[in-house]
Amino acid sequence: MSMVAAVKGYRMLVVMPDGMSGERLAISRAFGAQVMTLGDFHVNDALAKVAELGSEPGYFAPQQFDSEWNVEENRTWLGPETLAQLPDGVVPDAVVGGVGTGGTIVGVGQCFRGRNPSCRVVAVEPNESCTLMCGEVGRHLIEGISDGFVPGIFARHRHLIDEVVAVDSDAAIGEMRRLAREFGLFVGPSSGAHLLAACELQVVQAAAKAVRPAAGLAPRGALPVLPVACPVRRSRVPVSVTGGRRGWRAGGRPGRRWRQRRRGRRPRPAAG
Ligand SMILES: Cc1ncc(COP(=O)(O)O)c(C=O)c1O
Repeated sequence: MSMVAAVKGYRMLVVMPDGMSGERLAISRAFGAQVMTLGDFHVNDALAKVAELGSEPGYFAPQQFDSEWNVEENRTWLGPETLAQLPDGVVPDAVVGGVGTGGTIVGVGQCFRGRNPSCRVVAVEPNESCTLMCGEVGRHLIEGISDGFVPGIFARHRHLIDEVVAVDSDAAIGEMRRLAREFGLFVGPSSGAHLLAACELQVVQAAAKAVRPAAGLAPRGALPVLPVACPVRRSRVPVSVTGGRRGWRAGGRPGRRWRQRRRGRRPRPAAG
């Protein structure tokens, strides 16, 4: 939003909780936004402040957690833009997206589902703040998702979501570091979480390929707000449905066979 405001020539005031990363603050300020920090980690207090300011003359508060424009933008722009980057008109069998506002996974999910009715739409949240699946709010380290409540967008469109996957913060950060080390990708923990979730869903392509559509769209240095979209062969994990039935968790230390498969090597037969 700060980038758009800079390009359009609007004055931008970003209200965000304390405890966000230095990168997030620096990016907003680099685009000329003024930043006000308020409340602790989750965004509820910041949102209340935004609602208050937004009702004053001269302010416009986009209400991105609730606005259908957010969904529409992702359905009509990000979804088609992502599909256009996939080879040979491929429409993925699944799309995986962390839920901050919910706009990305819902809008992109609608777009992909429109082109492939059996496309699975999978939401990601931190294990430590299992709000969508279990109604719990906790501190976690996957900034940008799980902001402390179920956003209006997600609540209205939850019928679209086939599955919610919970990822450990530490595992997401480990994956983020691996992406930097092995692929030179400067991405945040939510990208690590997306990729772990996608890999757990038996992604056909290697991890590097899976992340490419997202990385291609995200400028280096930015924290990407993008889904990982990739064809899925079959789901090895039990299907869980939003609303508190069965869930499964990605994360933890992957086993040797999983690591080898991810690197594209055939596992050696187990000794004995
Ligand atoms: C780093 C990061 N990842 C993922 C998301 C989730 O995107 P959405 O708000 O569309 O659900 C956000 C949201 O701002 C984010 O900042």
